[in-house]
Amino acid sequence: MAKVNIGLTEQQRYGVIDLLNRDLSDLYLLIIKTKKYHWDVVGPQFRTLHELWQEQYDALSENIDATAERIRALGGYPVGTAEGFLQLATIREHANDLPLATEMVVRLANDHEQIIRNLREHIDRCSQEFHDEGSADFLTGLMEQHEEMAWMLRSFVEGEQLEGNGDRPGSQTKPTVNA
Ligand SMILES: [Fe+2]
Repeated sequence: MAKVNIGLTEQQRYGVIDLLNRDLSDLYLLIIKTKKYHWDVVGPQFRTLHELWQEQYDALSENIDATAERIRALGGYPVGTAEGFLQLATIREHANDLPLATEMVVRLANDHEQIIRNLREHIDRCSQEFHDEGSADFLTGLMEQHEEMAWMLRSFVEGEQLEGNGDRPGSQTKPTVNA
């Protein structure tokens, strides 16, 4: 087999490949959950959520492919079994229940936020520990997409009423002053 010679040690490459496989596993669990809720959702917001989740499914599908192919570009092999994904994933499945639409939105928002927190740590490690700026940049792009997807979901469950001062309930529009 041709040797991979891209300026990273074997240890650095395999360190990054491990992180990418962990992210890939979370993406796989999330795409399954997203599609399931696309199918299951009912209620007055059916059409909006059904379509939003199809859009997010399509974006996740692109990102799954890009992540797996980046693992190959680094000389590794992506995890490709349901069992393997379950072992490495940090987000959890909710088997055998059918929540209300709002609960579906909250669960998916939480999953995106979990992935964002993982990615933030993985970006740091790719850069600081493994000196792979390419993978750090790739994961930064993924993180930004999840931030947008999480925002869309959170916005769905935020209240529409404003408080007396024009703020949204629970918003932090004013800077916090540290004494
Ligand atoms: Fe569909």
